[in-house]
Amino acid sequence: MVTVTNLLELEEISKSFGEVSALEGVSLAVGDNEIVGLLGDNGAGKSTLIKIITGFHAPNSGTITWKGQRLTHLTVQHARDLGIETVYQERALADQQSLWRNIFMGRERTTRLGLLDVGEMRTETEKLMVEFLRFTSQAVTPETEVATMSGGERQGVAIARALHFEAELIILDEPTMGLSVTETRKTLDFVREIKAAGKSCIFIDHNIFNVHEVVDRVVLVDRGHVVGEFKTAEITLLDLIARMQHVAETGSIENAEKGVTT
Ligand SMILES: Nc1ncnc2c1ncn2[C@@H]1O[C@H](COP(=O)(O)OP(=O)(O)OP(=O)(O)O)[C@@H](O)[C@H]1O
Ligand SMILES: [Mg+2]
Repeated sequence: MVTVTNLLELEEISKSFGEVSALEGVSLAVGDNEIVGLLGDNGAGKSTLIKIITGFHAPNSGTITWKGQRLTHLTVQHARDLGIETVYQERALADQQSLWRNIFMGRERTTRLGLLDVGEMRTETEKLMVEFLRFTSQAVTPETEVATMSGGERQGVAIARALHFEAELIILDEPTMGLSVTETRKTLDFVREIKAAGKSCIFIDHNIFNVHEVVDRVVLVDRGHVVGEFKTAEITLLDLIARMQHVAETGSIENAEKGVTT
C-alpha cells in the first residue's frame, strides 16, 4: 500500500481566546504542490488557523504534522525554518528601503570578507524582476524605494521573496484586499507561479471568483468549524456559490445540494 504523506496536516485543532471559541476541532491538510483556498465569513477563524500554522498562536488542543513529523511547541522562527512563509499585503515590506534590500532582508549576501555583497544582491533582484515579476513599469529598478510601488507590485515582491528563499508553503491572507482589478489579476498570476514552482499555498480571499480560479481545493470555514471541502475541478463556480449560501444560512453543508440550481 502506498501512503501519501501530506505536506501539512492539522487535526482536531481548537483555539479559544477567553470566552471566545475561534476554532473547534478543525482538521485541514495541504498536499505537496497543492493550492488550498480557505473561504468563510468574517470571524470564521481563518486568520486564527493561519496564525497557528505560523507558530504565532499555540492551539489549546489538536496536532500539527509537517511532512509526517509531529510538531510540538511550534514557534514563528521554527515555522519559518521549515519553509512556511506568510505574506501580508501591508506589513510584508519595509517601505523606506530599496527593492533589493527588501528581497534580501534578514538573509543578506556577504562577500568572503564578510561585507555586504551589494552587487550580487542587485543582480539577483534584477533576475527576479525579469523572470518572475515581469514588471511593466520602467520606473521600477532594484534601487526603487518600495513605498513608491503599487499594491500589486508589492504583493509580487513578497511572493517572489518567499519563492526565492525556497519556502515550501506560502500563506496568503487576503492578498487582494484593496487592490485594483489589474493588480488582483497579477496577484492571481503569482499564485499560479507558486503552483508552477512546485510549491504549496494556502490562499484566503473573500472573493469566491478569485479563489475558484486559482486553487485546487476549497475548504469552507464557518464559525470555527470546517463545514465543507471541494476539489475545484469537481465543482462549478455556481455550485460552490450555492453551497456557500446554504452554509451561511444553516451553518451546515448537509443537504446543500438542495440549494443548487441546475
Ligand atoms: N487575539 C484575539 N483575541 C481575542 N479574540 C480573537 C483574537 N483573534 C481572533 N479572535 C476572535 O476569533 C474569531 C475568529 O477570528 P479570525 O480573525 O480568525 O477570523 P477570520 O476568519 O480571519 O475573519 P476575517 O475574514 O474577518 O479576516 C473572531 O470571533 C475574533 O474576534
Ligand atoms: Mg482574517
